[in-house]
Amino acid sequence: MFPTLLVLISMATLGCALHFPIGPEFLLKKGPINNRIVGGEDTPIETIPWQVSLQSQGWHYCGGVIYSKNIIITAAHCVHNNDSKILDSEIVDVRVGSSTSDNGGSVIKVAKITVHDHYIHYVYKNDTPKSQYDIALILLSSPLEMGPTVKAIPLAESVPNDGAVVRVSGWGYTETGEAPLHLKSVYVNIVNLEKCARVNKIESTKAKICAASPRKDSCNGDSGGPLTYRSKLVGIVSFGPEICGDPSQPGVYTDVVELRQWIDVEATKLSSN
Ligand code: ARG
Repeated sequence: MFPTLLVLISMATLGCALHFPIGPEFLLKKGPINNRIVGGEDTPIETIPWQVSLQSQGWHYCGGVIYSKNIIITAAHCVHNNDSKILDSEIVDVRVGSSTSDNGGSVIKVAKITVHDHYIHYVYKNDTPKSQYDIALILLSSPLEMGPTVKAIPLAESVPNDGAVVRVSGWGYTETGEAPLHLKSVYVNIVNLEKCARVNKIESTKAKICAASPRKDSCNGDSGGPLTYRSKLVGIVSFGPEICGDPSQPGVYTDVVELRQWIDVEATKLSSN
């Protein structure tokens, strides 16, 4: 199948595509406030210089995080197609060092993608897609030039306590129902994991953390992007309820602290071959 179509279909299924030429109507279920980030603010890339945009054919579709000069961390579902196959590296580009998703900074080709072995993505009828071990690493084809707009972020050593204020960012849908061209970020609170698993009907709490705040949330198109606590990476945007910003149903993030070792080991392997 034509590769762009594959990405489109994949992201539509995941509810995660943005800016693709066929428009959001195709990608999102209709509804008044479905699939929209709420409460975010425009944020310059200098404030979040580890944020990147994953793009296909020039269109932003997922976020990512700079781990080192040649490795990007993202969500596994951001690098899979509808047939659960890992995307060809040729169809994914990474824009770094820009507050705007459609210009500025530099666009770098992907050399290789590694996905967590235990990654599973599942969709039950009439429910939002869910994942486990939703994490992947991208090896860039050329090393990043670090500077004020391009920086790696250290991984956190411990999960922040319930209630801690964390920040999430990206070019995902906003409360107006549009995919913003300017990077946004929002502060949310860590939510008790057991409670989050119950309300989101998640079977396993493994490698997950949750965060929510009234009318503030990540949303579709933010996947793969950073959840940070005191400028350290604690989570990767993974999935959430149909309605973004509903505080009774927190957003779900891949737990970077639990997967620290996996990230370090796989990043070393990836960058050495
Ligand atoms: N899977 C979505 C994406 O690709 C992330 C959804 C987050 N939703 C939420 N309510 N926090 O962008």
